[in-house]
Amino acid sequence: MTAQYHVHGDIAVITLANPPVNGLGLSTRQGIADGLAQAQADASVKAIVLTGAGKAFSGGADIKEFGSDKALQEPNLNSVIAALENASKPVVAAIHSVAMGGGLELALGCHYRVVAPGCSVALPEVKLGILPGAGGTQRLPRVLGVETALNMIVSGEAVKSELLASAPGQKLFDKLAASPESLMEEAQAFARSVADVRPLPLVRKLPAKHPQGDAYFQFVRNMVKGMAKNFPAPLKCVDAVAAATTSRSFDEGLVRERELFLALMATPESRALRHLFLAERAASKIPDVPSDTPQRSIQAVAVIGAGTMGGGIAMNFLNAGIPVKMLEMKPEALERGLATIRKNYEAQVKKGKLKQDKYEQRMALLSTTLDYADLAQADLIIEAVFEEIGVKEAVFRQLDAVAKPGAILASNTSTLDVDKIASFTQRPQDVVGMHFFSPANVMKLLEVVRGAQTGKDVLATVMAIAKKIKKTAVVSGVCDGFIGNRMIEQYSRQAGFLIEEGCTPAQVDKAIEKFGFAMGPFRMGDLAGNDIGWAIRKRRYQEKPGMKYSKTADLLCEMGRYGQKTSAGWYDYVPGKRDALPSALVVEMIEKHRKDLGITPRKISDEEIVQRLVLSLVNEGAHILEEGIASKSGDIDMVYLTGYGFPLHRGGPMHYAGELGLFNVVQAMHRFAQNPLDDAAFWQPAPLLARLAAAGQVFN
Ligand code: 3HC
Ligand code: NAI
Repeated sequence: MTAQYHVHGDIAVITLANPPVNGLGLSTRQGIADGLAQAQADASVKAIVLTGAGKAFSGGADIKEFGSDKALQEPNLNSVIAALENASKPVVAAIHSVAMGGGLELALGCHYRVVAPGCSVALPEVKLGILPGAGGTQRLPRVLGVETALNMIVSGEAVKSELLASAPGQKLFDKLAASPESLMEEAQAFARSVADVRPLPLVRKLPAKHPQGDAYFQFVRNMVKGMAKNFPAPLKCVDAVAAATTSRSFDEGLVRERELFLALMATPESRALRHLFLAERAASKIPDVPSDTPQRSIQAVAVIGAGTMGGGIAMNFLNAGIPVKMLEMKPEALERGLATIRKNYEAQVKKGKLKQDKYEQRMALLSTTLDYADLAQADLIIEAVFEEIGVKEAVFRQLDAVAKPGAILASNTSTLDVDKIASFTQRPQDVVGMHFFSPANVMKLLEVVRGAQTGKDVLATVMAIAKKIKKTAVVSGVCDGFIGNRMIEQYSRQAGFLIEEGCTPAQVDKAIEKFGFAMGPFRMGDLAGNDIGWAIRKRRYQEKPGMKYSKTADLLCEMGRYGQKTSAGWYDYVPGKRDALPSALVVEMIEKHRKDLGITPRKISDEEIVQRLVLSLVNEGAHILEEGIASKSGDIDMVYLTGYGFPLHRGGPMHYAGELGLFNVVQAMHRFAQNPLDDAAFWQPAPLLARLAAAGQVFN
């Protein structure tokens, strides 16, 4: 049983005990119902306190139960809340920490609520693409007022308990305890003080009114519509709260909430967000690295190279309060790097996003050096020098000579072999890839590249430090391009075939942006620099001479059109501006190229563009999974959602493929393979994909 029952004198205490966050799974719900029954049957019990053990009162309904029979099995959450309301003795919720979603709804079903200061209180269901489904949309407006409740429900954001408790007229909390430590004592004393009060107060009896209801809800709907974009839940949250104010009875409002909740639960957007929630947390777990693996202490960090990446990487650690020493070859390079960091922080100060004193504190944590001997105290050293193996070799040999035993030596390389880099040292177990994305102080993704000999404690430490600097870390094995860039290479190849066959760059970009990508492949190429892809292709032409490529991207680079940095790429740019303007020169180049190949262009639908681009990611993702480069498909999705602008509401390429049905994915690939202007070998389904499709399964 994941709820405990104890009697202290005349008070019964029911304690949720379902770690890690007291999710309201079936056995916990049953435990609460049983405890309630026991307390009511015991004549010596005068009142009941409901509380939670561990780090939360309750994080809400058990997300892992969603979609299974268990979620609906009696007693379901609504039945438990009804039992609380109908209890013959007063029930006091004692909230010492997080009260979220179903957890807050449970507390709202109690007759009284005593809360400690510092608790995070929220109805965050909207972040999972649903709405509160156990009365939250009906009860919260009754205790906090319609506007405050609606803000909390539509945003899903947590509010601190002391703030809510001090809001004028609030009826959410009956008492703010002095501290989390004294909460239980105070809650029991409170329960005793109300033991004989009748009738028992119920939130459902309170009014839910807004003085300008119609106008207010119209205004909110317009605003939310603009912000919610690809997600249906926020608007439905408004509908549910509106129902609290217009329904003829509380129960009629509950029925409306239930209908909306169930409809949202079945949407692909909610499935995508729930997948994202679980995949994000699962990404931090490495199958053969147990959670109790000892970690190394990271008190001081060093960064080698103060260029584009080095500066951004350093900022992450400074932001987290960890001192950083930056090393460069020349004082001018250090000065340039420092100036960029200062400029970035000053921009934040100007926008009011960073306080001046915080900025100064951060800069005070930063020091510089030209001498490797100064790195002897660093616990973690991250190399971000030129992408040339010879340069990396020189750096790692020096690091091996000066770094203290047990220091972690990381490389930010995007294409080089981490095992080779490790071989330049006598301590390959301490070497790991930390592949940040540009701009490194902004982008959430961090690919942690696990070398053949990388120590488990090194991995555990890097995953923990990634959390500290607020990155989403995903482990990748060693391969060319790791997870993200290896997949994007196939996507770019396919984008090239689309151009050759009849699309313009703008048409391809528009189609995939309409699907939800932050940026299409051609705008992305212009931003990153088309010369980077060119260098990779030149290498590929040597390594894989038989592989088919469209030559348009090479022709573009031969014209010197590297992208935004040359004010000309797939698009034209006005110097200093980022707007992508269609280029007549590029269209001419593409048309001539088609003519040279004897291709008569055809009109390609947006749907075909999207399918060909997305499925090229899916197929390479399947290879990556099968080779064990990624240990689970959710990791690949996290890479794409946090590093490559894949639309959140689609849940990542591998999840999206499951939504389409892998059988349909394979059928589409067979169809594309018939196209003589495409590449039949490209569309050969990865063996794992073919097997899962045949078995009617999805990636896991
Ligand atoms: N159900 C099941 N497991 C949950 C959970 C929940 N509601 N909330 C968190 N967890 C699990 C996580 O999956 C993770 O598991 P793991 O250790 O196996 O990976 C563990 O708890 C810890 O989670 P975090 O890493 O997020 O821990 P933090 O301490 O950083 O945050 C938290 C704790 C604030 C509770 C955060 O987890 C959170 O925001 N959870 C989601 C809360 C939520 O969305 N609740 C609404 C659920 S839907 C609902 O209640 C429907 C109802 O209206 C009918
Ligand atoms: P950059 O050219 O902007 O900066 C490199 C810096 O390293 C320069 O300031 C240079 O003076 C310094 N440097 C070179 N050799 C050195 C040495 N021996 N000792 C000390 N400093 C030295 O390059 P950028 O873009 O920052 O790339 C650095 C690394 O990060 C590369 O490995 C690159 O592949 C990788 N990377 C780059 C990304 C990007 O978008 N720019 C994204 C992810 C990884």
